[in-house]
Amino acid sequence: MNELFAALRAVVGKDHVLTDPDMKSGYEIDWLRQYIDDTPCVVRPHTAEEVAGVLQACAAAGVAVVPQGGNTGLVGGSTPRDGAVVLSMQRFTELGEVDVRSMQVTAGAGVTIEQLQLHARAAGLDFAVDWGARATATVGGAVNTNAGGSRVVRFGTMRAQVMGVQAVLADGSIITQLGGLPKETAGPSLVQLLVGSEGTLAVVTAVRLRLVPWYQHTAAALVACDSLMHAVGLLPALRALPNLDAVEVLLPEALQIACKHLGVKPPLDPASAGAFVMVDCAAHRDPTDELAELLGSQIGVLAVGAQRDKLFAIRDHITIAIGALGKPLKLDVAVPVLHLDRLVRAVRTGLRELAPRAQLVVFGHLAEGNLHVNVLGAGDAEAALKELVLTTAIDLGGTISAEHGIGVSKAEWLERLKGPAHVAALRAIKGALDPAGLLNPGVLLPVE
Ligand code: MLT
Ligand code: ZN
Repeated sequence: MNELFAALRAVVGKDHVLTDPDMKSGYEIDWLRQYIDDTPCVVRPHTAEEVAGVLQACAAAGVAVVPQGGNTGLVGGSTPRDGAVVLSMQRFTELGEVDVRSMQVTAGAGVTIEQLQLHARAAGLDFAVDWGARATATVGGAVNTNAGGSRVVRFGTMRAQVMGVQAVLADGSIITQLGGLPKETAGPSLVQLLVGSEGTLAVVTAVRLRLVPWYQHTAAALVACDSLMHAVGLLPALRALPNLDAVEVLLPEALQIACKHLGVKPPLDPASAGAFVMVDCAAHRDPTDELAELLGSQIGVLAVGAQRDKLFAIRDHITIAIGALGKPLKLDVAVPVLHLDRLVRAVRTGLRELAPRAQLVVFGHLAEGNLHVNVLGAGDAEAALKELVLTTAIDLGGTISAEHGIGVSKAEWLERLKGPAHVAALRAIKGALDPAGLLNPGVLLPVE
């Protein structure tokens, strides 16, 4: 190892190879304390050339590399395992000038989503992908997981925002595609291949991103629904709203624990409904009227200005509130919206049989049929519950990962979801780009 440390210091400088246990510890565990393992060192390069040097040094030493951004992942995709070196991308903080003509910007992989949003807003534009961990989650991590969040209903996932990347391949070669051309048919897109690849094919160092208009007038509503079916039934009316920006769903437990965590009175009594829909509209002009009209026929509250921000703060704090209660079994599934109710009923039935005392907290993104199923206190039943939730999602025509990624958490499941031919094709791509298995082994594809 000492030889490797010396080689890495020669590439990034001695201050950026962390071997001290106290200095490394924050990189060895994820924020929800689900995944923890030792790393021999954390390396913090600053340029694509330095990343290339790090990869070459690690390849020569036969040591794997785990790229890490803000470490807000939820599937163990960016924490070390089996003696791998952590490659922290946090020093890639460069933000280019916003091009208002093309509505694009280039951001370093370590720029946080919030920094990107503020940078775009200073130029009168906005970045579309948004979720609760925005202050810590990074652009590179978002590309690697194809992050989604709450505004997918309007703008799509990260995939739809990525116009180009700079990335370092396992052999140290650098691909730079940051021109941001909206139209180009020059073969398959390597850029898009890297979106959702979870650090297994290359290390993304910079990203060319699409920006969207900055809608400064917002209005939100929380609607009480008898059931999840009722919530799903609202979708046609919601989609008809001209300025619809987000449609989130909270089952009562989620509303309750987030409000309790924040120490605020729930805007509606969590016990009064079977599901709550949180709607956001955003426009260049006040969208309150369109939302008020929709609310006219529903039970709910309207929230404008500071009240809107308070309402969405509740939504943003659900994950933190769950984490404060314990170490959850956390699953991120999606099914066609008409099957959402079946999915939740199957989970509740399974929970009654397998872990009757466990606490179930379900919330997510209604328009995409994407639910975050969290179970606290499942104990020995965790594996059986995971099996139940993931199998049910697949059987209902859904997916085992809508936005968090596969990570190590669900690598063994990929073939059940996608089938052997699909996984063999992915393995062939991985084998061609990273024949030694240097990059993030065990993530996405199980180690053979
Ligand atoms: C969210 O929607 O808040 C995130 O996906 C985080 C989570 O699922 O806990
Ligand atoms: Zn989510």
